[in-house]
Amino acid sequence: AIDIAKLRDQTGFVTLDSGFKNTGATKSAITFLDGEKGILKYRGYSIEQLAEKSTFLEVAYLLIYGNLPTQSQIDDFQHQISRHTLVHEDMKKFFDGFPSKSHPMGQLSSLICSLSSFYPECLDPHQTKEEFDLTIIKLLAKMATIVSWIYKKSLGHPVIYPKNKYDYVTNFLHMTFGQRTEDVEIDEVVVNAMNKLLILHADHEQNCSTSTVRIVGSSDCNLYASISAGISALWGPLHGGANQAVIEMLEKIKNDGGDVDKWVNKAKDKNDSFRLMGFGHRVYKNFDPRAKIIKKACDDILTKLGINDPVLGIAKKLEEVALSDPYFVDKKLYPNVDFYSGIIYRALGFPTEMFTVLFALGRLPGWIAQWKEMRENKEPIGRPRQIYVGENDRDIVPIEKR
Ligand code: ACO
Repeated sequence: AIDIAKLRDQTGFVTLDSGFKNTGATKSAITFLDGEKGILKYRGYSIEQLAEKSTFLEVAYLLIYGNLPTQSQIDDFQHQISRHTLVHEDMKKFFDGFPSKSHPMGQLSSLICSLSSFYPECLDPHQTKEEFDLTIIKLLAKMATIVSWIYKKSLGHPVIYPKNKYDYVTNFLHMTFGQRTEDVEIDEVVVNAMNKLLILHADHEQNCSTSTVRIVGSSDCNLYASISAGISALWGPLHGGANQAVIEMLEKIKNDGGDVDKWVNKAKDKNDSFRLMGFGHRVYKNFDPRAKIIKKACDDILTKLGINDPVLGIAKKLEEVALSDPYFVDKKLYPNVDFYSGIIYRALGFPTEMFTVLFALGRLPGWIAQWKEMRENKEPIGRPRQIYVGENDRDIVPIEKR
């Protein structure tokens, strides 16, 4: 076997893999993904079983601590989270400072980073296990409150405080859709749909945002700032921001007369920068198993809620046309997790700009688990190399002679 470290030291040998298409950055025991077969498992459990039989909080526990919780473990986990759902009152001033139309992802990233100021004990890279567990609990608890308050602010409505009699997801829905004056009845269909969506987003091994969280944490930076960096990475339309971009695209196609073939042709045109949003994936060269579950859930939920959304018809037609087109077949471009998720979020009552924030809420346990694993494995600081292609040996010419 070649000793790469020795080779590097002796010769300056560097491997170049732009976009890290073939480079593994870590060994991980959290999520298994087979992109050729379309398989996804968290800690050995199939995503299909988890989406069907678990709650989001159970999956969060599984990802972070490695096993599904017992009844007393999940009760304790929920109880601890409930004790930390309030955010510091001073933090509300930050909400007031953002322009009312500012994008929720920019707000979320800043607010999560600011937790490191309110809870400075997180700055210690050598927290004990108990201290670190509390740092995690606070983050899980406050994230749901922060996300719902961002939504309330976008409406210009007063924020709703958490009610700790509710479970994690119900509490989130209460703070999001609730009123100050009365208890809004939270439909079981909505709670189940939300649990399912959050579970399906909870981890996805070394994607762009997760790699960001690990690499920021590798410098011994605190958990809250690392997650804030992950939120920024998720925001881009090539990653989590695609769920917003999909609905905007479907709306555009609808308003343009619904000619799906025209838009599929546009996506194939190499002189046009347009891509079919919600299509294609770096790792899946087959159906994204999450997209399959979400598509079915989408039909079920819209039927149960009695909603007839014309963009669902356009999405299905788009999928049909694209998947019978040699361009998409040859390049193995299938619908990804973001293709149908927005239609469900919309049916539940969320505005388009909130979609990526909901993705972040779901991805949070995965980011935490990956950060924790990176620390427990004592991984070295992340620091890729480069091949320098710039100028060499230039002498400075005085400014008046340049
Ligand atoms: N529409 C049209 N053509 C596409 C699409 C698409 N959605 N996706 C990829 N292609 C084409 C590319 O033009 C390229 O063609 P070429 O070989 O002729 O140059 C080929 O397929 C390979 O694409 P790459 O961009 O090289 O693949 P990469 O693995 O780097 O990118 C990505 C993956 C970013 C997801 C890409 O498929 C894309 O932009 N999809 C649309 C955005 C999207 O849905 N993102 C969400 C991904 S899931 C997630 O992050 C949660």
